Amino acid sequence: MKTAITELFGIRHPIIQGGMHYVGFAELAAAVSNAGGLGIITGLTQKTPELLAREIARCRDMTDRPFGVNLTFLPALKAPPYPEYIAAIVEGGVKIVETAGRSPEQYLPPLKAADIKIIHKCTSVRHSLKAERIGCDAVSVDGFECGGHPGEDDVPNFILLPRAADELKIPFVASGGMADGRSLVAALALGAAGMNMGTRFIATKEAPVHENVKQAIVAASELDTRLIMRALRNTERVLKNAGVDRLLEIERDKGAALSFADIQEHVAGLYPRIMLEGDVDAGAWSCGMVAGLIHDIPTVAELIDRIMTDAERLIRDRLMGLLGHSATPAAKVA
Ligand SMILES: Cc1cc2nc3c(=O)[nH]c(=O)nc-3n(C[C@H](O)[C@H](O)[C@H](O)COP(=O)(O)O)c2cc1C
Repeated sequence: MKTAITELFGIRHPIIQGGMHYVGFAELAAAVSNAGGLGIITGLTQKTPELLAREIARCRDMTDRPFGVNLTFLPALKAPPYPEYIAAIVEGGVKIVETAGRSPEQYLPPLKAADIKIIHKCTSVRHSLKAERIGCDAVSVDGFECGGHPGEDDVPNFILLPRAADELKIPFVASGGMADGRSLVAALALGAAGMNMGTRFIATKEAPVHENVKQAIVAASELDTRLIMRALRNTERVLKNAGVDRLLEIERDKGAALSFADIQEHVAGLYPRIMLEGDVDAGAWSCGMVAGLIHDIPTVAELIDRIMTDAERLIRDRLMGLLGHSATPAAKVA
């Protein structure tokens, strides 16, 4: 399948694995890229730019296909040394960067100078247009369903994607709620040139996280996520668990007077415990509503092959069939 995204990034299938804290290590990124998608290492999970350089080198040892690095710009008491992370990316020869969070504008010049393609992930049409204006090459449009930070507008992808299609000139992928061949075909129909997945890629054999995390996703339904930190305008969609219940109780008690310090112990610094040690009830961790569509833990290659096969069958048999075209020979036999 050829789309503006496969052409832009030099990949076989229009499927991207979004950056994920303590999930997007070289193992997962390389597995996705080897399977024909675009794997992405999460830059800030590496505690220093030197460690990121090492992670990039590890990934390069595992794949000769294109892969990217995610740089997330979130509010922080002490900002990470972004210019040094960017230097590690440039020197590591990475040609694709996924930015997310605040506008990446001030960091674009060194990336552009190194001929790096930028895909900015954002949750609204206005931020997508800003990304286009400042020179990003593509956008990842993250709907309200998504795991992680859905923004504050609460517009789901059935509205957000066609709105983006109406306004954007640069290509975009659909992000949030994407899981299978149906998601991909729907995303393409709504105007996207591919899809970005987070939660679905955690429940794969190669995702280097504890088995408990994968099982928690398989066990969860679409009703099992919660939105936290609304009062701080830093909303995050997370999997409901005992730690999140306690956090939500504090949020209810404090109301509009909530400060980050009130909930810090339930949201900050927990990812190593959750993702690596498997203590899935320790507190908040990002998870999308799409958990309701995830029922197994395939290899990344099995997942991507299944998505592409199902998408092709959907287009050829179901959609073309609706128009009166004959089905593919395989479907006729079935
Ligand atoms: C556990 C987890 C951690 C994430 N960490 C990040 C991150 O550090 N930076 C980022 O830009 N997005 C992060 N995301 C968002 C994903 O890249 C992706 O946009 C999102 O998961 C898409 O929604 P989906 O989960 O419905 O597929 C994270 C998502 C999950 C589930």
